Amino acid sequence: MIDLHCHLLPGVDDGSPDLNESIAMSRQLLSLGFTDVCCTPHMPWSTVVRTEEEISAVREKLSESLVKEDLPLSLHSGAEHWVTEVMERLSKGTLLVYPAKTTFLMEFGLDGFPPNLDELLFRIQLKGMRPVLAHVERYPEVRKDVSIIGKLKERGCFILVNLPSLVGGWDRRALKTARNVVRQGLADAATTDMHSVHDAPLVRDGLEELKGLVGKKGFDTLMRINPANIAGLCDGSEEN
Ligand SMILES: [Fe+2]
Repeated sequence: MIDLHCHLLPGVDDGSPDLNESIAMSRQLLSLGFTDVCCTPHMPWSTVVRTEEEISAVREKLSESLVKEDLPLSLHSGAEHWVTEVMERLSKGTLLVYPAKTTFLMEFGLDGFPPNLDELLFRIQLKGMRPVLAHVERYPEVRKDVSIIGKLKERGCFILVNLPSLVGGWDRRALKTARNVVRQGLADAATTDMHSVHDAPLVRDGLEELKGLVGKKGFDTLMRINPANIAGLCDGSEEN
């Protein structure tokens, strides 16, 4: 399985605080069945804006530590961009993208979509890029009516739900909305959004819930085939 949203890198945001925690989280991710993780620290985190080089260096150091620990988890590029800074990064070409180079993770504030969303999505499309929207179950517009996702998809957005949300890891409305999004076939992938070792039980329960909602084939699509295609990690073809 491939995780498109995870705060695994140590000491760069509100995720893993240090290398030991990152190694412990990696061990958990492997035991849950993940082989690949796109490391997506908040960008920016509070007032701290880290460069792509800084983030890459932290990721490479963690990768080296995982090899030493004999933990075969592959780490990949990414960041969780606040929507308010995407326009500027788009024009400067400084988005921290997935390996595909044309896709990037984006999140909105909990108060909902920004007023200039149509224009932003249009500009993103013009640049040949596609936003991957984090945890759509949190946003009021989606909670009100999940069919709004159809409009976002028309604009090229990929849709993510968080696995913990499927079992109440955020709030009851997020649980209901996330399950609706999945049931209606609107989700492109489900992600851990793991911040610490304490999130692992909710991720595990979320994976079980997802299997129950979409079946074995649907589960493989949401956890392996689609994430591979979105992140550009392989051809995402179906297993024979
Ligand atoms: Fe996140």
